[in-house]
Amino acid sequence: MSHACKILSPRPENLDLCANLLRDGAVVGVPTETVYGLAGNALCESSVRKIFEAKGRPLIDPLIVHFSSIEKAEAHVEFNDHARELAARFWPGALTLVLPKKGTISDLVTAGLASVAVRVPGHPVFRALLERLDFPLAAPSANPFGYVSPTLAEHVESTLGNRILAVLDGGACEYGVESTIVDLRNPDVPKILRPGPISAKALRIQNTDTPTATSDETAQAAPGMLTQHYSPNTSITLFAHGEQADGIQESEAVVYNTKPATSELAANRFWLSESGELSEIAHNLFMLIQKLDHANYTRLHVERAEDAGIGVAVNDRLSRAAAKRGGSS
Ligand code: TXA
Ligand code: MG
Repeated sequence: MSHACKILSPRPENLDLCANLLRDGAVVGVPTETVYGLAGNALCESSVRKIFEAKGRPLIDPLIVHFSSIEKAEAHVEFNDHARELAARFWPGALTLVLPKKGTISDLVTAGLASVAVRVPGHPVFRALLERLDFPLAAPSANPFGYVSPTLAEHVESTLGNRILAVLDGGACEYGVESTIVDLRNPDVPKILRPGPISAKALRIQNTDTPTATSDETAQAAPGMLTQHYSPNTSITLFAHGEQADGIQESEAVVYNTKPATSELAANRFWLSESGELSEIAHNLFMLIQKLDHANYTRLHVERAEDAGIGVAVNDRLSRAAAKRGGSS
């Protein structure tokens, strides 16, 4: 199917082109070290509206605003010492901080909340784009709402290509899962709202239970934490880490963390990592699930990861992907 969307290599003239599109109010797909984002001018309501429209995202789910530096971010949110300490340790990087807003960022971006989620990303292509602009970029993951997040430019092109003009190609995303989100509105009571590449241990924050919202009404209290999210069209069933899947039909696929014993090998067996390292499992997770979603299996049986480090984020995304559409399990 032909559409207008171009996958652009990150040459300076293409960065200039995308910067111009963004200045004109358009939205553009951008690579980040976590997942691909769908970026628009965070200070322009009509651009922000285009982001929600392109994704089919409900207006109650607030966006993350990306800056080139902490100094730029300080103009829009109230920092505290705890936030400065984490920013100094992890920015640029895969950490998003929720802080009180100063009033410059519209209610459309924040879904009416009195806080803004802010991040200084580390991906060199995204940084080069931000540095060309005199406004910050609002960017949710560049997937249709509820679907698996994109970790390749091709994923963005194939799912949103009929709604956007361009996606900058920054290669496969390093981490493969979205940023860790920490609520620091109260610096004494930090809360991890979404597990991600930066672990609770690295943050030195006692991990609280990740909030779960089961309906649109409760989503407002814990935005983005809808039980059912990140779902491929093919149903997913999870099995425990270190177990074998059994009773698998030929029409179904099995996804292990690492290559299974040869006795288990068959054409419908897949694995996320050669090394078994959690970083490689996370890096490949959404990529393999999207690939298998197009392979006509009737069900994917996926092994849970070890519940440590970035494995916590992998298991969080897997649980939501496996939750029944519209259900509350
Ligand atoms: O890695 C990432 O964070 C990627 C890249 C593109 O930066 N972005 C991303 O955005 O994952 P998105 O829209 O898929 O998830 C943003 C989530 C919201 O769903 C919500 O959970 C949380 O960020 N959020 C945004 N603003 C918030 C706020 N003011 N308070 C609490 N949570 C907020
Ligand atoms: Mg998302």
